[in-house]
Amino acid sequence: MSQSDKLNRRDFLRLSGLGVATLFAGPLLSGCTSADQATAIPTATTADLEIALQAIQGEVSILPGKATRVWTYQGQVLKGDPASLQTLPGSYLGPILRVRKGQRVRISFTNKLPEQSIVHWHGLHVPDDMVGHPRHAIGPGQTYIYEFQVLNRAGTYWFHPHPHKITGPQVYKGLAGLFLVSDDEEMAAGLPSGEYDLPLIIQDRTFDADNQLLYLPGGMMDQLMGFLGDRILVNGRPDFVLPVATRPYRLRLLNGSNARIYKLGWEDGTPLTVIATDGGLLEKPVQRSYVVLAPGERAELWVDFSGRPLGSELRLQSLAFAGAEAGDMGMMMGRSLALPDGSEFTVLRVRVERESKERQPLPERLSTIHRYRLEDAVNRERPRTFTLTMQHMLWTINGRTFEMDSVAEDEVVKLNTLEVWEFVNQPGSMGMGMMGDMMEEMAHPMHIHGLQFQILERQVRPEMAAGWETVRAGYVDEGWKDTVLVMPGERIKLLLKFEDFTGLYLYHCHNLEHEDLGMMRNYRVDV
Ligand code: C2O
Ligand code: CU
Ligand code: CU
Repeated sequence: MSQSDKLNRRDFLRLSGLGVATLFAGPLLSGCTSADQATAIPTATTADLEIALQAIQGEVSILPGKATRVWTYQGQVLKGDPASLQTLPGSYLGPILRVRKGQRVRISFTNKLPEQSIVHWHGLHVPDDMVGHPRHAIGPGQTYIYEFQVLNRAGTYWFHPHPHKITGPQVYKGLAGLFLVSDDEEMAAGLPSGEYDLPLIIQDRTFDADNQLLYLPGGMMDQLMGFLGDRILVNGRPDFVLPVATRPYRLRLLNGSNARIYKLGWEDGTPLTVIATDGGLLEKPVQRSYVVLAPGERAELWVDFSGRPLGSELRLQSLAFAGAEAGDMGMMMGRSLALPDGSEFTVLRVRVERESKERQPLPERLSTIHRYRLEDAVNRERPRTFTLTMQHMLWTINGRTFEMDSVAEDEVVKLNTLEVWEFVNQPGSMGMGMMGDMMEEMAHPMHIHGLQFQILERQVRPEMAAGWETVRAGYVDEGWKDTVLVMPGERIKLLLKFEDFTGLYLYHCHNLEHEDLGMMRNYRVDV
């Protein structure tokens, strides 16, 4: 996009501010809009879909007894197909936005929270001022207008708040929804659809005796290691039961937890059939005995319940694994958890409730993925390396923490180039000996804004291979990714291309407590 195009678009967005004010002359805009929007002239919009989204405080009944105070998104379709917006009834999560590739969407986000916020579209390839960067956070009562064309391929994307230092608590209070994109290729794949295509958002929460959400009860230690709750919620419900018919399903899993990593497997050892990752469908289905899902990651499963007896149940477990967090250290520092990292527990139960004769076969081919090649990378000889270490009790990327508007020299890339990046999780650099090393041994789910990447290779330091071996068979690296789990001692190479948009984008650890502590940086795409 040329500089003048960008200016025009910015002007257009600013000018269109009043258009929204006119549309929502009702209570929705009782607060003030930003100053430059107030002086603007209404402009016609070309959006196929217009949605009003607001973040509000509310209450929802989660556990028996008292309702739980939550923060939640509420949406409304102003123009376009009403089915573009679905709710998860009785849940703090949602809404689910359903769009088609190529659609032009316009979303006006109004912040009705008592603090600043901004909506980030996780996984979407959009201009830098549309992606939801903390520098665009708006205060209580203000509105931010998003307008972009959906360029992403079909897939399970999502959205959540992204204000600096308070992303963790805002997501924890309930703010998150899905952004599902469909396209022709997906439609042609022959996958279960409608009521057989189900989102499953997995989170962990801790409640106090009054049924209210408890965040970081362990204080600084919890912040440093990341929040781990003692109850598992699916789609915002505890003890989740999924009623199914004896036929195939498409299950869209999102790990929407702040910091917990799941190692998902069926209790009876049935392999998981994975059909999609963060950036949509794989080329063909792959089988795994378990799938590892770190915060921010998505995986889609194709699962056939035919042949299972009516009334039978099947548990989806999170299986035991090691090495993602220095558990001993946590305990030494007084972090006692009901569900420690890497322990085994049940995520949900599937209950076979209905007979169905439908026999939809698993497609052999799902999509076409154009493979990036290392030899095409401009820096193929010298990967851009990001080393993840702890320094002065903070998680850092190349020794740095977040700065709102700036980038370092090694964080500037060129538009229309393919690069190879390397994330290196390198404990033991703090020079504190045993204590320090243990403390530093943590997994980091690294996420890059504004694009999807491909994973080229993984290596692990031999002395840290033991923990890694308990999760590695659960990586699904065959497809498009925007978030990748980097275990202690692991070194991961990825290929990524900077296309269409210049500007300032984020990359960060998606352990939200790490992110809030500053384990986040900008990268800049220059012409
Ligand atoms: Cu889902 Cu910057 O995050
Ligand atoms: Cu993101
Ligand atoms: Cu981290």
